[in-house]
Amino acid sequence: MNDCRGVPVTGANQSMIDALEECHLQALAFYGDPVASCDLILAEHPEFIMALCFKGAMLSQAMETRIYNDFVETVRRAEAQSSKANTRELGHISALRSWLDGDFHGAVQKWEEVATAYPFDLLAIQLVHLSDTLLGDIVGQRDSVARAFPLWDESVPGYEFLLGFYSFGLEENSDYYRAGQMANQALSIRPDHPYAIHAVSHIMEMQGKAVAGVKFMNQRRNSWADSNFKIHLHWHTSLYHLDRNDTGQVLALYDQHLSSDDVEGEKYEELDAAALMWRLNLVGVDVGDRWKHLADKWIPSATDTLYAFNDVHAMMCFVADGRNEVAEKLLNANERYLGHANDANTAMSRIIGLPFCRALSAFAKEDYDYCVDLLLPRRYQTHRLGGSFAQRDVIGWTLLEAALRSKRYDLALALANERCGLKPTSPMNWQLVARAHDGRGDKIRASQARDKMSELLAA
Ligand SMILES: [Fe+2]
Repeated sequence: MNDCRGVPVTGANQSMIDALEECHLQALAFYGDPVASCDLILAEHPEFIMALCFKGAMLSQAMETRIYNDFVETVRRAEAQSSKANTRELGHISALRSWLDGDFHGAVQKWEEVATAYPFDLLAIQLVHLSDTLLGDIVGQRDSVARAFPLWDESVPGYEFLLGFYSFGLEENSDYYRAGQMANQALSIRPDHPYAIHAVSHIMEMQGKAVAGVKFMNQRRNSWADSNFKIHLHWHTSLYHLDRNDTGQVLALYDQHLSSDDVEGEKYEELDAAALMWRLNLVGVDVGDRWKHLADKWIPSATDTLYAFNDVHAMMCFVADGRNEVAEKLLNANERYLGHANDANTAMSRIIGLPFCRALSAFAKEDYDYCVDLLLPRRYQTHRLGGSFAQRDVIGWTLLEAALRSKRYDLALALANERCGLKPTSPMNWQLVARAHDGRGDKIRASQARDKMSELLAA
């Protein structure tokens, strides 16, 4: 049997293949619960290899220890079916084993081999693209799609999702024009496409189009505000408001959408909430007791050492809420882990994860000099942490704020000028330039920068 894109599937009839396609659609279009839906299929067909591969793939991308037992069991069950699997399925199973063993880059290589041999395997392409995003392989985010893209067209089911992946990959590689074209085409096929909306939100973020960004997100609100991607898309909307220094609106969005009462929130909520609160911390906003609730959510994963990207967000909460003991635990766990581990996350933690955690701790202790010393030599290696440019911007912003607070105004001006060079339409960036000029005693240039900021806010 083949799936709707002509990719071979072992041990399945048409209704099983259709049911699995529906699970995949839920994941691609961010609705329902793809893992729970897949569990229903597996309850009836426990040896369905591609269903096991799909479930394992979804769990791999979660980067959480709380799903770990389920992940281990799913991979074990898939491996038990290896003798019946075709080469495509063997590739998926082998990739999952590599991921489970902490060899994330090896897993990507194996999914890439599958996608090269089966260029219509949308799941394999998706996994390479998303894993490259998690691992900070910027070029790979784009080229994972480019390899197969010319073979696809609108007649292939799911083409709009390939366009969405390509759009985000192009955006992360600063090709905003083509990224916009791909996103628009994806949205013309499926308006209800949160990943394509997300790609547009990144394009606008990187281009400093805050007003247009808010407008776009509000206009498209019906197609993403109930999706499984809503928290991250609210976070993106908050960034536009923050760029215009509208911190009241940022806090309102935070309270409405990024601060559920659950003790165990979604990972996206925990990550994005921490990232947003830390930015508010940088601009000096009193966020009340919001850190406390958020820090509680991060406590269970303080010593996971699973994914450096998670650790730095946990650290933001611990140091901002004065949880010095648990912050120390996180640092110690990472130091111990780096002493003996050799999985893919080791390099991510050593190069940027742990230094940034230490820098956050230094910042909270008002040791801004040390914070600068830690971050300055690493600022062009931050992509090794994974995530997007928009997410990692918090590192450069922390460095600049620490430079200002440690009165290293020449450096602060250089860094603020860099930010303005990249995003000259950002009022927040001009405010940072003005503060650096203030520090250097250049009242004329400080005033000019503030005029520029006011001009942009008025526009
Ligand atoms: Fe994003």
